[in-house]
Amino acid sequence: MPYRKILVTSALPYANGPIHIGHLVEYIQTDIWVRFQKQRGHTCYYVCADDTHGTPIMLKADSLGISPEALIGQVWQEHLADFTEFGVAFDNYHSTHSEENKALSALIYRRLHDAGHISSRSITQAFDPVKNMFLPDRFIKGECPKCGAQDQYGDGCEVCGATYSPTELKNAVSAISGEKPIEKDSVHYFFDLGNFSDMLQNWTSAGHLQPEVANKMAEWLKGGLQQWDISRDAPYFGFEIPDAPGKYFYVWLDAPIGYMASFKNLCDKKDIDFNDFWSKDSDAELYHFIGKDIIYFHALFWPAMLTGAHFRTPSAVFAHGFLTVNGEKMSKSRGTFIKARTYLDHLNPEYLRYYFAAKLSAGVDDIDLNFDDFSQRVNSDLVGKVVNIASRCAGFIGKRFGGRLSATNAEPALFDEFINANEPIAELYETREFAKAMREIMALADKANAYIDDKKPWLLAKEDSKDQDLHEVCTMGLNLFRVLAAYLKPVLPVLVKEAELFLNVSSHSWINDIQFLGDHTINEFKPLMTRVDPDKIAAIVEASKETLEKTTDKPKPKQFEPIAPEIIIDDFAKLDLRVARIVKAEAIPEADKLLKLTVDIGDETRTVFAGIKSAYKPEELEGRLTVVLANLAPRKMKFGSSEGMVLAAGPGGKDIFVLSPDIGAVAGMRVK
Ligand code: MSP
Ligand code: ZN
Repeated sequence: MPYRKILVTSALPYANGPIHIGHLVEYIQTDIWVRFQKQRGHTCYYVCADDTHGTPIMLKADSLGISPEALIGQVWQEHLADFTEFGVAFDNYHSTHSEENKALSALIYRRLHDAGHISSRSITQAFDPVKNMFLPDRFIKGECPKCGAQDQYGDGCEVCGATYSPTELKNAVSAISGEKPIEKDSVHYFFDLGNFSDMLQNWTSAGHLQPEVANKMAEWLKGGLQQWDISRDAPYFGFEIPDAPGKYFYVWLDAPIGYMASFKNLCDKKDIDFNDFWSKDSDAELYHFIGKDIIYFHALFWPAMLTGAHFRTPSAVFAHGFLTVNGEKMSKSRGTFIKARTYLDHLNPEYLRYYFAAKLSAGVDDIDLNFDDFSQRVNSDLVGKVVNIASRCAGFIGKRFGGRLSATNAEPALFDEFINANEPIAELYETREFAKAMREIMALADKANAYIDDKKPWLLAKEDSKDQDLHEVCTMGLNLFRVLAAYLKPVLPVLVKEAELFLNVSSHSWINDIQFLGDHTINEFKPLMTRVDPDKIAAIVEASKETLEKTTDKPKPKQFEPIAPEIIIDDFAKLDLRVARIVKAEAIPEADKLLKLTVDIGDETRTVFAGIKSAYKPEELEGRLTVVLANLAPRKMKFGSSEGMVLAAGPGGKDIFVLSPDIGAVAGMRVK
């Protein structure tokens, strides 16, 4: 087997949310493949990172009242902990918000720029005049131009599935401020993908892509290649473009460079030669595992960027399909949007690793997690077939033979058959046909069980004269189990580690070092895996359910309110803020939001209209204290004159808070 140097990546998960079981399809698929390569003795590095830049992360940090750096630091830890507990063993897990990535992004941009692949021009975009920022399509909301559904985002309608540009939305508003967007011009930088059309024509049809993906690319290439907008205006959480103050790299520019950056970080820690893997004449292999939704970036932009910047291109991009649960898109209301952490709270992660392996192929078809099928597969294959072989034999070896295996290989033909299966199984792992590999392995497990059924050790054990037979049969059974364990090791690292401890053998490399294990002492057998507890599955679904109540009742907090223009202390001193007692509160039938309050501000009572009807019943307010701006000029309203302003805080809806009655304040007190 020729020696290989391999660098493998999974797509970098966004740092604005938790890892869920959909993500795990990819990370488990990649991890199995990497573990297989390592087990075969190849040098294989698996790197990944959090994808930290962009508007959603900036806004999320804002809404949490923390810096983006703090947010991504926290999420990084959670992501890595989730991956680690699922056995996803990165050689390095980095961040796109890193020095390495900044330097490499600048380098690649410079090289593209100097070679004439970057151009700039002014474009017109939706702009939030309150928040003072350009609005990405998904931050514009309005009515679908096709079906009229309310509250649809600027990139497409979730109700009728129409796609359109945000300018087509009716009554569009900014999802951030609620304000009507205006149009504004700004200079953007573009990567001239068209300069690479010949290169991409060749590359996409040269065996680097799965056939169905290559076909899709051919269609896209026929449609012609547009310039790719790689810049965003401030405010943006990302890297500023060199020599372009106030302009930032669009997150998708620096995200794939994050693969290189994570590897660079590993190279510096482990003294690995970076150029050996990334230079144009590299003899290393480079593979990107991705989901089918991000093919465009990996099969067009990325190879073009690498070529334009004089780096090597990927050996292959491996796309997989999407996970559905019980035949449907993961859904929060059905409890099938399952976070990695929720799963880990209840079930053994290796169940899921095996289940995904049993479903995965080399293609881009979606895969379905069906809970009945899940339990049935795990119980019947892993517990009922594989582990069962060991548990049927281990007891006799322990009790009757002092834990010592027989020296005799009683069924060499059967043992050889198991060993010889290694090549076809390896080929299936290599080509990512994991489901087929699992089928081959389970067929062998069936054979091992059939052998034991045939020899009936439980009957042999009843006759003293059959001691040797019993010894040999159980030894054989455990040897077959050992070979299966080696084949399953990429999928079930923990179970196999425990099997190795039980068998008292050192860590298995692929099959090269597996000789018949005879005249060897093993350790006590402990159950290696238990059946799936259906209650645990129910608990996961329950814990994942976001009831409609929870999602609709909660007012969507405005993500943030802009800070008003600065004032000086003298401006503030002009405000006469008084503690006021609400003596009377009345609903106004014609007004949706307003309550009419009579407030006692010490020396006098005032009538104030306050927009807090959604949060309080009038009678709940009577007797409570609040703060009133007492020197606000009276304002004539439809229902009377308002003589002040009640101060309350909260995101809106039911969550608007006035003071509670017991703060030790009295009406008329000046608020300082
Ligand atoms: N940040 C980008 C990738 C940048 S790579 C330079 C991204 N992040 S993601 O968090 O949305 O997705 C990470 C990976 O998980 C992607 O490959 C995506 O296809 C995959 N999956 C996300 N949801 C999935 C399912 N429901 N099913 C299978 N894979 C899914 O995209
Ligand atoms: Zn619609």
